[in-house]
Formats: sequence, structure tokens, C-alpha cells
Amino acid sequence: MSDRLVSPNISDEEQILEGSLRPRRLAEYIGQEKIKENLGILLEAARRRNEPVDHVLLYGPPGLGKTTLCNIIAAEMGVNLKTTAGPAIEHAGDLASILTSLQPGEVLFIDEVHRLARAVEERLYSAMEDFALDVVIGKGPSARSLRLSLPPFTVVGATTRVGSLTAPLRDRFGAIYRMEYYDITSLEMIVHRSAGILKVPADEGGIKEIAGRARGTPRIVNRLLKRVRDYAQVRADGVITREVANRALDALEVDEIGLDQTDRNMLTTIIQKFNGGPVGLDTLAASTSEDSETIEDVYEPYLLQLGFIARTPRGRVAMRAAYEHLGLTPPGGESGPNLWTATP
Ligand code: ADE
Repeated sequence: MSDRLVSPNISDEEQILEGSLRPRRLAEYIGQEKIKENLGILLEAARRRNEPVDHVLLYGPPGLGKTTLCNIIAAEMGVNLKTTAGPAIEHAGDLASILTSLQPGEVLFIDEVHRLARAVEERLYSAMEDFALDVVIGKGPSARSLRLSLPPFTVVGATTRVGSLTAPLRDRFGAIYRMEYYDITSLEMIVHRSAGILKVPADEGGIKEIAGRARGTPRIVNRLLKRVRDYAQVRADGVITREVANRALDALEVDEIGLDQTDRNMLTTIIQKFNGGPVGLDTLAASTSEDSETIEDVYEPYLLQLGFIARTPRGRVAMRAAYEHLGLTPPGGESGPNLWTATP
């Protein structure tokens, strides 16, 4: 799964490479216009008041730039960024050591914030709200609770599953932004920018071809660009034209709307093994040898967005558009009604 070309997830190695293409300031950031506008105001207001930024929650599918935005928040405020992730903070003590090491105004990025342990999350409430940390010293009858005050700081939380956040945690974020899939124009601008940074010549047709197959995701567009660059250098004269990009992406089995073999396998499994669905998530996972969480967080969001599948209370169903894309005949024939829409 992790070496899948169109996976929105990132490997450690890629994280380092991605760094060079990542915009550092808000003005360089392409797309997510609504977030940029609101975040710009949030940052400017905090700077004018000389206060840390309010806590920010970023949510949405992987690969859309949550980490990048967090880095930008710290850079725009001229403060350090400390990075951690929900599952990495195992005990309340781990949280205490992170929080007590923060300098005034610093940004603490908590990725996968929905996966914080309950005991850790509960300590975080007062830290976020009152900049105070309750620590328990000792055990048993002699245990005492001590309230430490912390310097004001900013938590930036990121999650792919905002629905899994508890209400008290969600309520402690003053600004909540939903990341959207990027439109094609923004993706083309990103390819253009990245090609410039990587010093790869690419014409308009080549840029459009790569952008069109990147499933609305900057991380994927940059990954495809690098692979097409390799192809152009080895199999052509180094220039990314539409024709070169087309050949390269066909060879990589990324189709014209960005689906790869795994997506197609999932769709054909629903259609052929389960008669179009509904099929339960766990059954689908077992039949495709993927795990349920990966299907939900990684594959499904884009297929849902395309209208290729739908979630119903009885499971996943394949929609007419999926049959058509795969060249299969939908039940009811070419002109039948859209499938399942009437019976959620
Ligand atoms: N590279 C990756 N994401 C980007 C974005 N949103 N804007 C500019 N360059 C990017």
C-alpha cells in the first residue's frame, strides 16, 4: 500500500524530498482559498495583538497540505514548531514533558489528533484552555495534584477523521478548517511551480496531463511529476510534453482520472463479487486484502468524491459512474436509473 504511486500517504524518505517542494509562506501556498483567507486574518490579528495564534484544527483527506499549513503558521508567526502525533503521546507524563518544554508562542503540531489516549486528551483540555497543566505527584493516599502554569502556545491539530474527535477536544480549537480536494487549475499551478523548483522542462500539455491524474492531491501531483520526469529523461529528451506524460503515466498504470490498480480492484470487487453491493466495509477489506481503516481513510474519499461509490447503512455500493469508467454495463442497462440513489 505504502509504495502505491497514487497513495496520499507519505513515507519517511518522501517526507524529506517533499520538503523542497513545500511552500514556506502563505503567499506561496496555492489553492484552499477559503482557508488561506481566514487563516491570513487569524495570523494577522494575533500578530497585531502580540499574542499566540488561537488553536487550529485542520481536517480532511491525507496529502492535501495539513502539515504544510502548520509549518506556514509557525513561519508566519516567526516561532518554532514542535511536531508530534496522537499515538506517540502514550502517557500523561509524555504530554507534560512536551508541554513544559514549549517556549512562549510556539506551535505544537499534533498529527492524528483523534488518536490521543483518553488520559492524555483530558490533560490537554486545561493546557489548551487555561495554559495550565495538572500533574499528579506520588501515588496512593499521599498523591498530590499540582497545577503548573505553561507559557501561552498554539496547538495545531490535524486529522483525517473529524467525526472521531470528542466534542470537548473539538471545542477547544478556536479555528477549524476543512481541507478540500484541489481543483485542476490549482494542481496545474502546483505542477508548474514544482517543475520550476526541480528544474524540469514541462510544457502546458504535460502539466495538464499530470494534474488531471493526481486525484485532487498535491502530494500525488508532486510524486507523479517526479516519476514522469524520470521517464522523460530515460525514454524521451527530458522535456515533459503531454505525449511523454501520457506514456509515462500509462506505464505506471495510473489511469486518466488518477485511479490505480488498487482502486480498480476495489471497484470490480464490489461490482463483480458482490453484485454491485451493498457490501460491508470489513467484508470488502477481507476481499481486497486491505485493512478497513486504509479503505476508509485512503481509498474511499476520492471514490466517494467522484461519485463512484456510495456509503449506505448496509455497506458500500458501486454507482453507475464506476461501471461506466470500468467499461462495464450497469444493472438496468445503459439508460437505467442511477443505482441505489433512491434506497440509501
Ligand atoms: N506543494 C505542495 N502543496 C502545495 C501548495 N498547496 N501550494 C504550493 N505548492 C505546493
